[in-house]
Amino acid sequence: MNLIMPPEEEKIISQTRREPRVESREPNPDALPSALDSRTSTASISALTVKNLSIYFGKNQVLKSVSLEVQARAVTAIIGPSGCGKSTFLRALNRMHELVPEARMTGEIRLFGEDIYAGRVEPVIVRRRVGMVFQKSNPFPTMSIADNVTVGLRLNGVRARATLVDRMEKSLRMAALWDEVKDRLHAPAISLSGGQQQRLCIARALAVQPEVLLMDEPASALDPLATAKIEDLILELKKDFTIVIVTHNMQQAARISDFTAFLYLGELIEFDATRKIFTSPARKQTEDYVTGRFG
Ligand SMILES: Nc1ncnc2c1ncn2[C@@H]1O[C@H](COP(=O)(O)OP(=O)(O)OP(=O)(O)O)[C@@H](O)[C@H]1O
Ligand SMILES: [Mg+2]
Repeated sequence: MNLIMPPEEEKIISQTRREPRVESREPNPDALPSALDSRTSTASISALTVKNLSIYFGKNQVLKSVSLEVQARAVTAIIGPSGCGKSTFLRALNRMHELVPEARMTGEIRLFGEDIYAGRVEPVIVRRRVGMVFQKSNPFPTMSIADNVTVGLRLNGVRARATLVDRMEKSLRMAALWDEVKDRLHAPAISLSGGQQQRLCIARALAVQPEVLLMDEPASALDPLATAKIEDLILELKKDFTIVIVTHNMQQAARISDFTAFLYLGELIEFDATRKIFTSPARKQTEDYVTGRFG
């Protein structure tokens, strides 16, 4: 397994040094120590470092000692057949799997150097720094479009109306939805199309200014046009965010990701630059999977 990708490195370093596009940042009293915050430590190019991650549901081990580095401001795709542990892997990256009572993990996950499973780290803080977008868009149906975007901020105690309005517009713009909804911000979220609802969920995730965005098959329920919009959006977002995306669509992984991890039966079979995975993978299993011979 080759974890070193020199040609990509320079690009990522330069991307990592860019300032985030969203300027206004709320003072965040319960944030992780600022010395460990990615926004101040631009020297690191690994957003997430996963070491020997194993996850069990009861006695069933569904991830087997997975180690990889998620590069900052790049798109990392997770591919593999159904049931291989992609969603479980993604959920472990923001401690979401802990919501399952019988789930247990061993190993280590660091977010810009900070152990996200350290005793003093609150899961809710991790989930704010590492946002999640799901396969099925899940806006709050009775809430307006605007309120859906700001709900996370309001739950985090942001009250200033000007801040909420400003962050709502910025998030909707970043999610490439603003122009379509700016005249009906107070309409219910469920009045939007499926693709718009998914971009609304992306806006909602962006509103709390995460550093990493996890996306679990975000376009698999959408038509080709809506899918293309999400893909364009991901390419735009990676300038400011680190993105980890699960996808069953090989063309999509090839189009939008910089790195690809191939999981099979809970094991990381291969992890490399996407170009390499799709043109000259090191393992036969990877080749068989990406060429559609199994899975
Ligand atoms: N909450 C849970 N409780 C028990 N087992 C679970 C739970 N969630 C997932 N699993 C098991 O973990 C394994 C991996 O599931 P996971 O959802 O991560 O797969 P996946 O690769 O995302 O599959 P798909 O492509 O179908 O979404 C499966 O065997 C699944 O049955
Ligand atoms: Mg899944």
